[in-house]
Amino acid sequence: MKLGVVILAAGQGTRMRSSLPKVLHKLAGRPLLGHVVDTAHKLGPERIVVVYGHGGKQVPDLFAAQDLDWVEQAEQLGTGHAVDHALPLLADVDRVLVLYGDVPLIRAQTLTSLIQAAAETDLALLTVDLDDPTGYGRIVRDARGKVARIVEQKDAGPQELAIREINTGFLVADRRRLEGWLARVGNDNAQGEYYLTDVTALAVADGVEVHTVHPADAMEVMGVNDRAQLAGLERHFQRSQAEALMRRGATLLDPARFDLRGTLETGRDLEIDINVLLEGEVVLGDGVRIGANSVIRNSRIGDGVRILENCVIEDALIGPGCRIGPFSRVRPGAELAGGNHIGNFVEIKKSEIGEGSKINHLSYIGDSSIGRGVNIGAGTITCNYDGANKHRTVIGDGAFIGSDSQLIAPVVIGAGATIGAGSTITADAPPDTLTLSRARQFSVKGWRRPVKKTET
Ligand code: UD1
Ligand code: CA
Repeated sequence: MKLGVVILAAGQGTRMRSSLPKVLHKLAGRPLLGHVVDTAHKLGPERIVVVYGHGGKQVPDLFAAQDLDWVEQAEQLGTGHAVDHALPLLADVDRVLVLYGDVPLIRAQTLTSLIQAAAETDLALLTVDLDDPTGYGRIVRDARGKVARIVEQKDAGPQELAIREINTGFLVADRRRLEGWLARVGNDNAQGEYYLTDVTALAVADGVEVHTVHPADAMEVMGVNDRAQLAGLERHFQRSQAEALMRRGATLLDPARFDLRGTLETGRDLEIDINVLLEGEVVLGDGVRIGANSVIRNSRIGDGVRILENCVIEDALIGPGCRIGPFSRVRPGAELAGGNHIGNFVEIKKSEIGEGSKINHLSYIGDSSIGRGVNIGAGTITCNYDGANKHRTVIGDGAFIGSDSQLIAPVVIGAGATIGAGSTITADAPPDTLTLSRARQFSVKGWRRPVKKTET
């Protein structure tokens, strides 16, 4: 049975009060539509057709790299009209699944049971019972409990309004029959729209028994209409990610103050303090501990690493056993071999740091290769930029750089070299040798401090 997916994403989303099309607003760092597209892919469909409209080419442009078909619905005349636009692209499929670009938390498992329910009949609906069904289409059942039709809130009478079983909008239908039903849907209703929901009564009239399936969690079918709902779904999503992480053996000191916007691979015995944000692709090894208020983006953190409070780590590789922070900034292209200590107000960019080397305080290390067992004193700066070009600093194994030194790149500090504190190093320093460049200290005998003149 070949499956085709239609994702409706043409609506304006007026209540977002945004110039960005609604489906491009982000949940966990990714556009709403991206979540839906990913879930659709998991079902292994023949084809995914996205119906876009409001915001024009912005939406398809953002997803250009993905294997999707696009159809424009220039005027949004209703959900039935939207699905009808997509069907010509699905001529080769047997069943059609309708998804929504602004309902991001729907799970593949739920859709699989909906698809299964439609294997035995020609129309299956995803429905849910809500304590407050206001605003939704209601599922009207006959005396035997069979689905008879769907009535929209604005078209419903008092008895129908009392129904708590609502239409989520998600459905699976036989492609041929859906085409036939949609051709018969009119727009003579309170909103003057072509309702997708009207296919239900047409199916029943054709003798089709409409099957229904429920999601495990009602949040799966909640849509985003305004920014408060978006924030609500974000919190729900983050909470469920945090719970999954705890089930995998991580300690989160407060799961309500943990955010993951991307993917996370973890080892055993991870411990994460409050207000930690992980973004992109993050890998955390066994026994990693992350202090409060740290941000880690697209980085790989080795076993036993301790990241103390308030660190920002981005596009970096941190080897095992490192201790980073508090207040360290590890920037793209930093590669720490392992056992390194990186302390407060240290910034590292595009540099390899050998095993066991320490940079404990107030330093900038950029475009550098640092060997093993190197000690970089407080306030050391690699002067990598001459205003036009970047240059490299190379520091050999076991070197000791005295505090407050400036290394003017390109420059090579030999293995075992010692640089005297306060030096400005402009030429290569030989190995196993003390190099310093500072004026000798002298004292002026008999010098007296000026005294303040007294007014006459
Ligand atoms: C729809 C259902 C309603 C259901 C509710 C669940 C219809 C007629 N009603 O109502 O039974 O309870 O969803 O949330 O289907 N869209 C287009 N093109 C259009 C119209 C809509 O792409 O011409 C998209 C919208 O962007 C939106 C989705 O379809 O993502 C739903 O449309 P909307 O108008 O919000 O339908 P509801 O009134 O919420
Ligand atoms: Ca809606």
